[in-house]
Amino acid sequence: MCGIVGYVGYRDAKEVLLEKLARIEYRGHDGAGLAIRTVTGIEVYKKGGPLAGLARELELRSVRGMLGLGHTRWATHGAPDDRNAHPHASEDGTVVISHNGIIENYRLLKERLAAQGHAFRSETDSEVLAHLIKERYRGDLAGAVRAALTEVRGAYAIVVAHAEHEEIVAARSVSPLVIGVGDGEMFLASDVLALLPYTRRVVFLEDGDLVVLRSQSYDVTDLGGRPRARPPTVVDWSAEAAEKGDCDTFMLKEIHEQPRVLAQTIAGGLRGGAGEARLDLRLDPSSIDRVQIIGCGTAYHAGLVGEHLIERLARVQVEVDIASEYRYRQPIVDERTLVIAISQSGETMDTLEALREAKRLGAKTLGIINVQGSSMTREAHEVLYVHAGPEIGVASTKAYTAQLCALFLFALWLGQARGVVSAARAAQLSAELRDLPRVVDEALDAARVAEIERIAAKYRDARGWLFLGRGVNAPSALEGALKLKELSYVYAEAHAAGEMKHGPISIVDEGLPVVVIATECSLLEKVLSNIQEVRARSGRVIALVNDGDTEAASYADDLIRLPRTDELLSPVVNAVALQLLAYHVASLLGRDVDKPRNLAKSVTVE
Ligand code: M6R
Repeated sequence: MCGIVGYVGYRDAKEVLLEKLARIEYRGHDGAGLAIRTVTGIEVYKKGGPLAGLARELELRSVRGMLGLGHTRWATHGAPDDRNAHPHASEDGTVVISHNGIIENYRLLKERLAAQGHAFRSETDSEVLAHLIKERYRGDLAGAVRAALTEVRGAYAIVVAHAEHEEIVAARSVSPLVIGVGDGEMFLASDVLALLPYTRRVVFLEDGDLVVLRSQSYDVTDLGGRPRARPPTVVDWSAEAAEKGDCDTFMLKEIHEQPRVLAQTIAGGLRGGAGEARLDLRLDPSSIDRVQIIGCGTAYHAGLVGEHLIERLARVQVEVDIASEYRYRQPIVDERTLVIAISQSGETMDTLEALREAKRLGAKTLGIINVQGSSMTREAHEVLYVHAGPEIGVASTKAYTAQLCALFLFALWLGQARGVVSAARAAQLSAELRDLPRVVDEALDAARVAEIERIAAKYRDARGWLFLGRGVNAPSALEGALKLKELSYVYAEAHAAGEMKHGPISIVDEGLPVVVIATECSLLEKVLSNIQEVRARSGRVIALVNDGDTEAASYADDLIRLPRTDELLSPVVNAVALQLLAYHVASLLGRDVDKPRNLAKSVTVE
């Protein structure tokens, strides 16, 4: 949700900043800009819309400087046009800022500054920061930023440059910010992915940190100027992992990475003897009476699958909440409640705030997270990394299936520790889990993918879709519909199949594509009845079935055949097929699947 970058060193700042912005453009593509400190002052270039527009304009210009900052925008205040793109500058152009977050008291500040004679050029909340810092500037940039920030309410990561200083000042409160430590150069970015081509030595800034960045040093203090020790850590993601490679899109690459990713996630939890889930958690299983799971979007859907897994394997009561609802619903929590926060980025503001609320209420907390060093990994009591590697496509794919595997491991671990899962059942489930990467690889074979593409082409012009599933695959239906709508911009709705007769069935008519998850499960007969109900109303059934299934197959208009796995693991395999369906419908409609409109990868505003 907005990406900010900064650079000070010996390279061409324009090139470095453009490259870094390209790597985090998934955080927003409503505008892009950069500011470079040159011998004559600070030059600002910005443009509404995707980064490519700005990059094209800059090709024709020579801008020489070795210090600068940049921004890629996800619009909150003001249209996605040139004026509202960042960076924003003070009227005299000496102070420039890029900001990620929302300044909640910006109206008051703007009115006051306007009354003092400041002229504003944009509709954004962020522009007040440039004017405020200019107002407080007395020759010390860090001092001016500190003074300005004490007047600000809201969330921010800001990066600031001044025409007369060979340094960058940056600060964070809520919104993420990472320093990249180089040799004779320093980098800043909202996301570690932007830093990977230059350095893997990083410093994750914390709330209330302010940093002064020079080519040879970085000094972190709090807003009162007291030093804070922030030694660098080394991240183990490689720059290549964040490249498209031979694939046309990041999403397709990430879909096809799933067998390898899942093998990594599973290897982390199935060490040791056959059938034993071993997790490096300092949680005492006997101290957990109930579990609450929080997440947003796809991570929330993973939580819904997790509810089935934990209740079935560990017999512990589970509640699942959309994170943005959890924090305001006065949840009932005590010290025997474990709250699990699921998040790919580890930065989603709704989930982070819900996690903080759970801690405040006295819960033990566990993060199921992908991005190393992200805010949630530092704030949760315990962390289970999902090891999916960088996920760049806005639509979550490999992180989702890795989250499902992590939840499965957790449920198995808890079930074994509580004596609920027998050794024989644990051995059988572990064997199925170990085999899962192979099953997913089989689900991705070229003939199966081609069949999904054919189905996508057949229904691409449908005005709406319905997704149905039951039991552990009811959340799979929700996830299938979310993938399709976020990528193709076509309306899609999902229901637990048994709910259809209580209302949604009235939307079924001739030609409505209805995707039914009918892979093997204890409720398959009931799912088959639901398919008949759709057919009786002339809906077109696209059924996900297992290889060799004949009954469900005989009722469907189109079939997506998938290899078998245990019912509790089937949401992983089904997710892969539904990702491909959404991918191909969206591609055939000419959508930008990596950067769907109106969306950002990491949502760091409320
Ligand atoms: O980084 P997170 O997992 O916390 O993100 C949560 C959601 O914003 C995210 O899963 C979103 O729903 C995806 N774009 C869906 O594909």
